[in-house]
Amino acid sequence: MSDKPWGGAFEQPTDQLLEQFSESVSFDRRLYAQDVRGSVAHARMLAAVGVLTDDERDQIVDGLVQIRDEIANNSFEFKTSLEDVHMNIERALVERIGDVGRKLHTGRSRNDQVSTDFRLWIRDQIDTLDQLAANLQRAFVHRCDLDPGVILPGYTHLQRAQPVLASHYWLAWCEKLARDRQRLADCRSRVNQLPLGTAALAGTTIPIDRQMVADELGFEGVVANSLDSSSDRDFALEFAYVLTQISLHLSSWAEEWILWCTTEFNFLKLPDAFCTGSSIMPQKKNPDGLELIRGKTARVVGNLQALITLTKGLPMAYNRDLQEDKERVFDSADTVAACLELAAPMVAGAELKRESIAAGIDRGYLDATTLMEYLISVGVPQRTAHEIIGKLVGTAMKQDCRLADLPAAEFEAAHPSLDNKVYDVLGVERAVAAFQSLGSTNPELVAKQVEVWKNKLNN
Ligand code: ARG
Repeated sequence: MSDKPWGGAFEQPTDQLLEQFSESVSFDRRLYAQDVRGSVAHARMLAAVGVLTDDERDQIVDGLVQIRDEIANNSFEFKTSLEDVHMNIERALVERIGDVGRKLHTGRSRNDQVSTDFRLWIRDQIDTLDQLAANLQRAFVHRCDLDPGVILPGYTHLQRAQPVLASHYWLAWCEKLARDRQRLADCRSRVNQLPLGTAALAGTTIPIDRQMVADELGFEGVVANSLDSSSDRDFALEFAYVLTQISLHLSSWAEEWILWCTTEFNFLKLPDAFCTGSSIMPQKKNPDGLELIRGKTARVVGNLQALITLTKGLPMAYNRDLQEDKERVFDSADTVAACLELAAPMVAGAELKRESIAAGIDRGYLDATTLMEYLISVGVPQRTAHEIIGKLVGTAMKQDCRLADLPAAEFEAAHPSLDNKVYDVLGVERAVAAFQSLGSTNPELVAKQVEVWKNKLNN
């Protein structure tokens, strides 16, 4: 005989090894609030369709709410022998209200219950993560007011390329985060479909009203196919992917700022409150927060990989393998939330080392492309102009000077159209001002974008 809620047909108790091995309550207890929410909605629906009396419904709802409150204030005892959070709560309900509690599981199974709880949990997380991402965007937009007019070297291949406004750089991160937020919203709509009532895999003969439960729980719709639903974890994988994408963005940002904090770059100073020291080298101020944001990407990527491997080749419908999904998703959500939370004050509090940036801004021929485009504008074909300016850059390199330091005769010799007017387009300020195309670092266009972002984020 087994004392499990499912033990009727069993002639032996569960082996201790299997009990320990298969339990999930140690981690899925995190779903308790969602589990109670789902059960309350289920009980209300069962009463509405006549499976429960109103009095039975009230006893169940009151009992569940009491259990939820006890779990919230740590006075509830979870039992490993009851496997998961779902059976722990249900058994506690039966212990408190007796046989009425034994009616709650009518017309559902743990398979649809788990999926419902997990979807509710992910939905809540998406809303929190969206806010955290918006806060980070706000921090970047706020920087545009802190660093007006500052020009940074823009890089490709980590080699100096063209000059960009610092604001343009801050807004680039806003755009990446905006796509991440869109991805979260898009993922949310697929997460937000109610599985409850698909039961174990085939549905139920009980005349339940799934739409009523969906409405009560704020789901946008009900999952259409019970077999699909009880085997589906796409929603969790999609969420894990979006978290991975956020993590990858944060990791690139962190990497860049770690470089910027080096003596070699000397572009940025992080507030002391966001640096750590060395136990042996007294002078050190290390960007450990940034390094850990970069480092924690490994676990988020690893979690996604684990989920992909977990679901690869599972036959329909529910398989116990699916229980392995929770910890990976919990970990990714926790990790990314913590990274976003830490990133915002670092972005807001960092200081651009303007003097050091300005002192080096004339290195790297950031204005060469602008000069080439000037030559194009007076009718020289692009390939020819590229070659001519390339030669001029070569000359300046040999003399270890800026393009603007070359004498007028040098320009005229390179091409007759390169008269004194070249000096009007050389230098990073002029180069930045010369940009015109939509989406470029042109100062007026960037200023407009800053306004667009402020309005979007209500800064
Ligand atoms: N705790 C399990 C999970 O997270 C639920 C088990 C559901 N069903 C079953 N037949 N064992 O997936």
